[in-house]
Amino acid sequence: MRILSGIQPTGLPHLGNYFGMMKPAIELQEKGEALYFVADLHALTTVRDPEALRRNTLEIAMDFLACGLDPGKACLFRQSDIACVAELSWILSTVTPMGLLERCHSYKDKLAKGIHSSLGLFSYPVLMAADILAYDSDVVPVGKDQKQHLEVTRDIAIKINELYGPVFKLPEPIIRDESSAILGTDGAKMSKSYGNTVELFLEEAPLKKKIMGIQTDSTPVESPKPIEGSAILGIYRHVASPSDYAAMEAEFLAGGTGYGEFKKRLFGAVWEYFSPMREERRRFASDPGEVNRFLRNGAERAAAISHPVMERLRRAIGLI
Ligand code: TRP
Repeated sequence: MRILSGIQPTGLPHLGNYFGMMKPAIELQEKGEALYFVADLHALTTVRDPEALRRNTLEIAMDFLACGLDPGKACLFRQSDIACVAELSWILSTVTPMGLLERCHSYKDKLAKGIHSSLGLFSYPVLMAADILAYDSDVVPVGKDQKQHLEVTRDIAIKINELYGPVFKLPEPIIRDESSAILGTDGAKMSKSYGNTVELFLEEAPLKKKIMGIQTDSTPVESPKPIEGSAILGIYRHVASPSDYAAMEAEFLAGGTGYGEFKKRLFGAVWEYFSPMREERRRFASDPGEVNRFLRNGAERAAAISHPVMERLRRAIGLI
């Protein structure tokens, strides 16, 4: 089974990315041939700062490695290192009906957020289809917001297969259950676009500051606290042992403990949870050359997988 997913280097990974995408992706490296890439070409549709793009790409790779991605098992690479993906994107665009892209929510949502319209922003799902189809991917784990892009990918693959015979394997999406998504510091789903994130490898003082800044209601110390929708409990559940979690929940319900105390405990648990990974992270940060070697090696393996697929396609459509 070939598993493929990508993450855009539009910011630094946060707890929501870690528990939602990175941790499950790292676990999947045991279940099949995992290909994970940093989607730098996609990020070009919104990131205009070259230094930030370079830095975020490397940071994401370091975070993945520090969190347990094993480059001997999974293949980690930069999207832009695989040149044929851009070629494939062009070929796919020639069979993609405009209407298919016009229906995509994410384009409309991004315009509504004030992102400038561009041909690249509009054809973003075609590049994503190329990412997926270039490697004969079997399964693609993604968040709900990407579900429609997977449908577009399948539609485009079906179209090519109808026009030219069987070229592409149809990928299956694995849509993440986001009902238990981590809440951000304002109580909404943790997301870069809401500015409510807690980044994975903050230093002690800024991490404490973020956690102590989690918004809470004005329930007095002595009163029972609502557990539903609590960002503190929502994060604590992921980083504490089940018994510590149960204890905090019971204290919420009992009253008598203030939010400040809960936040301190949460900070301690987050700090502990990531401390072995933080050590690894430091090691990689001190040797970016090693990280770049892993990325290049990943790209070579990914390219080798894409070659027969591209050859099959070029033959089928008449380029060779
Ligand atoms: N669009 C995805 C996101 O923003 C990232 C991505 C790009 C991706 N290409 C992909 C995810 C291919 C899965 C498969 O989250």
